[in-house]
Amino acid sequence: MSARAAQALSRPLTLGSLELPNRLVMAPMTRAQSPGGVPDENVAAYYARRAAAGTGLIITEGTYVDHPSAGDQENVPRFHGERALAGWSEVVSAVHAHDAKIMPQLWHVGIQRRAGKPPVPEAPSVGPSGIALDGTPEAGEELSLADVERLIEAFAEAARQAERIGFDGVELHGAHGYLIDQFLWGRTNRRTDAYGGSPLERTRFAADIVTAVRERVSAEFPVVLRFSQWKADNYDAKLAETPDELRTMLAPLSEAGVDAFHASGRRYWEPEFPESDPNLNIGGWTRKLTGKPVITVGSVGLDAVFDPATLGDGAGTNVASVEGLAERLEREEFDLVAVGRALLADPEWSRKVLNGREGELVPFTREAIATLY
Ligand SMILES: Cc1cc2nc3c(=O)[nH]c(=O)nc-3n(C[C@H](O)[C@H](O)[C@H](O)COP(=O)(O)O)c2cc1C
Repeated sequence: MSARAAQALSRPLTLGSLELPNRLVMAPMTRAQSPGGVPDENVAAYYARRAAAGTGLIITEGTYVDHPSAGDQENVPRFHGERALAGWSEVVSAVHAHDAKIMPQLWHVGIQRRAGKPPVPEAPSVGPSGIALDGTPEAGEELSLADVERLIEAFAEAARQAERIGFDGVELHGAHGYLIDQFLWGRTNRRTDAYGGSPLERTRFAADIVTAVRERVSAEFPVVLRFSQWKADNYDAKLAETPDELRTMLAPLSEAGVDAFHASGRRYWEPEFPESDPNLNIGGWTRKLTGKPVITVGSVGLDAVFDPATLGDGAGTNVASVEGLAERLEREEFDLVAVGRALLADPEWSRKVLNGREGELVPFTREAIATLY
């Protein structure tokens, strides 16, 4: 890799009050290794190791907000309760010790929850209209307006706690067909009240969460929103078919106070609307339409795509050059670059890339998913 690419990724960036040492971000990746939902010293060591190797910003795995139907795994960390928050506070200290920054990814799975699953087996699965991602009706309960208010409050309270225990910002998980995205998407949101209808009306839940979060944290505390066109079981799904539709959806979120968007694509080099622009990926369009800083993501440093169904099973995934990525960064198509699987496989990934030692990178294998450390 050229020194030029390393230089592009090494440039610092200011986000609100946040001074990021470089452009590298660890993508949120669920691990389910927090016993009873409480992140322990292993979780702290796992993130600290990647922070020590130069990753400027860590976005944690998705962590459940305080709502009985938020999740469906016992060992996914929670973001409520004294013990879980004390655990998170240790994670923050461990990452800060290496001068990196860290934000929790606040998560509610919505209708993707399977009935009877922990941590609250008796809780119903809920969604905007009770419709599953594949369109199956009555897969769970339709949220009442009172429920909606309670959920907005749960995200706002989680953000308040995040700032209280020393996190550097929060990321709202509005992607991949989870609760917030279920409101954004026409297939899962058939509501006839103020939270459903046109694309603009479907953004209201996300926008209300952003507004409530903003009211609960300091003005300079960064709020990141992650969104995606694709859904967990449907890579061809689209929230927006055209740049105009994307603008309609992002504008109210931007106005509500999102400081940066995390535009989740699966291959960063793919143009999102090729008929309008041969190059711009979903992140590039987001930056162009909102003027806000953007994190891009998707197969950085790897030659095969993320597929939750197989997680790159089979031949494995080889190391790929970040040269083209760095060129896009230089052109300011986006501001930050999130790295997922490559950072799982190689905790030293950032140091090697920032020092032009690309030849030493470790390829990704499925086994890396189970990494304890
Ligand atoms: C094991 C694993 C767990 C993931 N968990 C989450 C998650 O909790 N929240 C989220 O928004 N994305 C999650 N993702 C998606 C990643 O953040 C990222 O968008 C995806 O892996 C593409 O980046 P990559 O090609 O660099 O791996 C996960 C991905 C993997 C591989």
